[in-house]
Amino acid sequence: MKLTETKETSKSYSNEIIKTIFERRAVRKFKEKPVENEIILELLEAARMAPSAMNKQPWHFYILTDKEKIQLFSKAILHNSKLAMLKAGVKEIVNHILHPNSFHLKDGIDFFKTDDPIFHAAPVVIFISSDRSNDWAHLDVGMCAQNMMLAAKSLGLDSCPVGFAKFIENTDEYKKLNIPSSEEINLAIIIGYGNENPKFHDRKKDNATFINNM
Ligand SMILES: Cc1cc2nc3c(=O)[nH]c(=O)nc-3n(C[C@H](O)[C@H](O)[C@H](O)COP(=O)(O)O)c2cc1C
Repeated sequence: MKLTETKETSKSYSNEIIKTIFERRAVRKFKEKPVENEIILELLEAARMAPSAMNKQPWHFYILTDKEKIQLFSKAILHNSKLAMLKAGVKEIVNHILHPNSFHLKDGIDFFKTDDPIFHAAPVVIFISSDRSNDWAHLDVGMCAQNMMLAAKSLGLDSCPVGFAKFIENTDEYKKLNIPSSEEINLAIIIGYGNENPKFHDRKKDNATFINNM
């Protein structure tokens, strides 16, 4: 493959891992079908295999599969995120929700009309937290989350990272979990059997510079 060639347009992939990477999408519509416990455990194992700075493995996973609880958490997050955006001002709301590039509008999700604009009625929600004092933790969690999503795709499931999940902190639901204040929720991954085939989102190509001869 030439360095400038776009891989997503080619029909064959070099191997299964590359194929999985290219075929993963943020999926926000799921079948009612529950996800088997063994699969959840396998996804957690895959997540744990991510590299981490100084092998600190700063992540902790909080797993929710109870439909009512997921809805409760979703409502609490929605309430909190609206408050946070109102605090940040009108400009922020426009940027986050009404901007044409917002995933909500672009991917056919109407933030104001859907029942669950946070977890998209997924059957599994995995919050990932990390140690607040670890400067590398966000990078580590990103790698761990990607491992989990690729593993899910390879097993026939779909997923979506949910940054909004961080707004769970300070809600009554969160306080009941007694999570130590040294931990922060970085994001959640929603997982389930997908019920949509989102289109490929274009990737920018002007962000690589070969610096040998500079
Ligand atoms: C850190 C992070 C936070 C995200 N937060 C949300 C979110 O709160 N809700 C959501 O529906 N999608 C969320 N996404 C998904 C992105 O919108 C999606 O990955 C992006 O539009 C590219 O689409 P693709 O993953 O299908 O290629 C998030 C993605 C990342 C990496």
